[in-house]
Amino acid sequence: MSRWITEADIAQYKEITETEVKQALDFSVKQVEKNLTDFTDHFPGPASFDGFYKPGENKNWTTGFWTGEIWLSYENAAELKDKTAFRHAGLTQVDSFHNRISQKYDVDNHDMGFLFSPSCVAAYKLTGSEKAKEAAILAAEQLVKRFHPVGEFLQAWGSMDDPKNYRFIIDCLLNLPLLYWASETTEDSKYRDIAEKHIHTTMKYILREDDSTWHTVFLDPETGGFSHGSTCQGYKDGSAWARGQAWGIYGTAVAYKYTGREEYIEYFKRIATYFLNHLPKDIIPFWDLTFGDGDEITEPRDSSSAAIAACGMLEMSKYMNEKDAAYYSSIARKFMKALYDGYRVTDSEQSNGQILHGTYSKKTPYNTCTEEGVDECIIWGDYYYMEALTRLSNPEWNIYW
Ligand code: GLY
Repeated sequence: MSRWITEADIAQYKEITETEVKQALDFSVKQVEKNLTDFTDHFPGPASFDGFYKPGENKNWTTGFWTGEIWLSYENAAELKDKTAFRHAGLTQVDSFHNRISQKYDVDNHDMGFLFSPSCVAAYKLTGSEKAKEAAILAAEQLVKRFHPVGEFLQAWGSMDDPKNYRFIIDCLLNLPLLYWASETTEDSKYRDIAEKHIHTTMKYILREDDSTWHTVFLDPETGGFSHGSTCQGYKDGSAWARGQAWGIYGTAVAYKYTGREEYIEYFKRIATYFLNHLPKDIIPFWDLTFGDGDEITEPRDSSSAAIAACGMLEMSKYMNEKDAAYYSSIARKFMKALYDGYRVTDSEQSNGQILHGTYSKKTPYNTCTEEGVDECIIWGDYYYMEALTRLSNPEWNIYW
């Protein structure tokens, strides 16, 4: 028996209905509202503990997702008093992001887009806040400092003069919309030029022959050419980390949105096809695509990967021919149906998150991560689940990325 279904099998699966989208979104907005008491002056960490996030400070690469949930709730709230409460909370968090970037607290990495797009770019687009705009431009300025002209990429982590850190990672594609936004807003093309170079380098090296992707790619500091691929959070170097593949799906969609390069639609399809051929029966991936049906005793799912992939497919559908657009938006609706049926939180007593069974980092003998958030709610899973619901409820939604 195969451990994975095939892309063709997915044709039989059900799509989420309009009523289910509405019901799920209403619950999500209420869940965010309930959390405002704990999480206006504080932020949830990357992952829950037994289903519950704890309040902490604005640090790490993940706090922007919570503020993003607040802005999605602001947009989806039916009543003015709720909108007012979400707006107040969102703008309070913008103050915190402004402090963080002004004081350069925990910002020496490439994650400026993950942090500042769903928080400050969203706030600027929705409220016109000048403080949010200023914070997001400072963040773009911080991000471009990580550009290496030799190799033409934005370095992910660590000190910029250490050859052992001379690498980019697939996730970074989602940091780049911040740079496009900064160029559009300041009319200075330098941010966009760097984003374009980074996209080009990523596309050149990230795909493997079988259409799975590297999580991280090291370049040669002397020549700028490919040195080797490796993983940090996947099972092992040659395996396909589920979330990396999902970042590749959404990342190629935003790369196409900003560059209009036709070949990125092909890359998107190749990355998506690999993902869709490595799913277990309920179509929510295990944390690494190596695993499939039969592995559930030892291996957790990563529900966030399905939510990210759904958003990427809905985004890319906007730019495809009618047939492809219908195909990928239908798959996105099927991912959302699977999350709706088997993974979403339906009772605030059970969890203060949105979707269960995410995995941040699972340690193996072959990877380099620290174990954290295994089989828990993870904050970007919650955010992208709400983003996908918002996209389905309002196809005209103006994206934060
Ligand atoms: N960007 C890190 C992660 O997806 O876990």
